[in-house]
Amino acid sequence: MTETALAPSAASRPAPPPPLAMLAELTHRCPLACPYCSNPLELTRKAAELDTTQWTEIFAQAAELGVLQLHLSGGEPLSRRDLEPLVRAARAVDLYVNLITSGIGLTERRLDALEAAGLDHVQLSLQGVDADSADEIGGYRGGFVRKMQAARWLAARGIPLTLNAVMHRRNLDRLEATIALAVEMGARRLEVATVQFHGWASLNRAALMPTRAQSERAAAVVREARARLKGVLAIDYVPADHHADFPKACMGGWGSTGLNVTPDGTVLPCHAAQTLPGLRFERAPATPLGRIWCDSPAFQAYRGTDWMQAPCRTCERKTKDFGGCRCQAMAMTGDPAATDPVCIRSPHREALTARAERDAGGTAALVYREGCG
Ligand code: SF4
Ligand code: FES
Repeated sequence: MTETALAPSAASRPAPPPPLAMLAELTHRCPLACPYCSNPLELTRKAAELDTTQWTEIFAQAAELGVLQLHLSGGEPLSRRDLEPLVRAARAVDLYVNLITSGIGLTERRLDALEAAGLDHVQLSLQGVDADSADEIGGYRGGFVRKMQAARWLAARGIPLTLNAVMHRRNLDRLEATIALAVEMGARRLEVATVQFHGWASLNRAALMPTRAQSERAAAVVREARARLKGVLAIDYVPADHHADFPKACMGGWGSTGLNVTPDGTVLPCHAAQTLPGLRFERAPATPLGRIWCDSPAFQAYRGTDWMQAPCRTCERKTKDFGGCRCQAMAMTGDPAATDPVCIRSPHREALTARAERDAGGTAALVYREGCG
């Protein structure tokens, strides 16, 4: 889509506050093959990835728009040979730079170069608490050992570390060990993120959906660990929303706190936005990020609360959770403007619970991510 396709800003419509964060998916290439990968079924090929100059321009546009935090993600961002100049370019426009990585592909020399370029923070994914379980879920033998080595290098340099552990039926019973490992690795923060079934992960619902008993126990484990590890490890917990009463405010509300840029420069309000019908997404840097953020019909489609239908429209929680996740509403009800079916006020909630319980009792084999090479 070209710049001319954007509507001019309506004088009566105030500009939205700037996004706090931008997720830059530098590449979809990845050495791992996690079954819970949330990237789309169809990945962007290497030949279509933006080059260094284009990303540098996007970072400058993001800083001008008011973005403060840049998350460099993928795929595996270390697959980009120009990662160091990209970090330097982002720091040059005062973005806080977080690298989201599996650690596979990191060497001491590379870490030195990234640190010299100004890298602020690293978020390391954790596939399991030992080599057998981690390498099995990542589909990559030797991955766990390399990750532990990467964590030691980070600790030695004092680079702040967050661990991201995707939890599911196969590992939720090892949550205590996951928390203990985070402390041992010197992480300041642990994200305990129950698997979300977007993108490739949707093929693995019956293999990964946690049981209700597991979810309830996990909540208690997190409560106890938060109290015990106060001042040592901060724990963020994203519970299985199928077992909650109300949905999360996905992306903090559509078009309100963040944006995602895919490897070919497509700018999205959320990770899975391309699954929603009727939306067209512009590409940066050809179309400036500021114009996309303020004027793109796709960003305006579910911004605020005007688009809502019953029961959200009159609900007292509508400015707290913004009706939940548009992509989940689409996937489960076929209507992107429907109330997130996680909500107990949704007419689809009963069906969602029944499906989650069916999936949690499933015995399906893992379907490993393909197409990342
Ligand atoms: Fe949130 Fe809508 Fe449910 Fe109210 S009805 S709690 S706004 S999802
Ligand atoms: Fe798209 Fe939640 S993932 S709105």
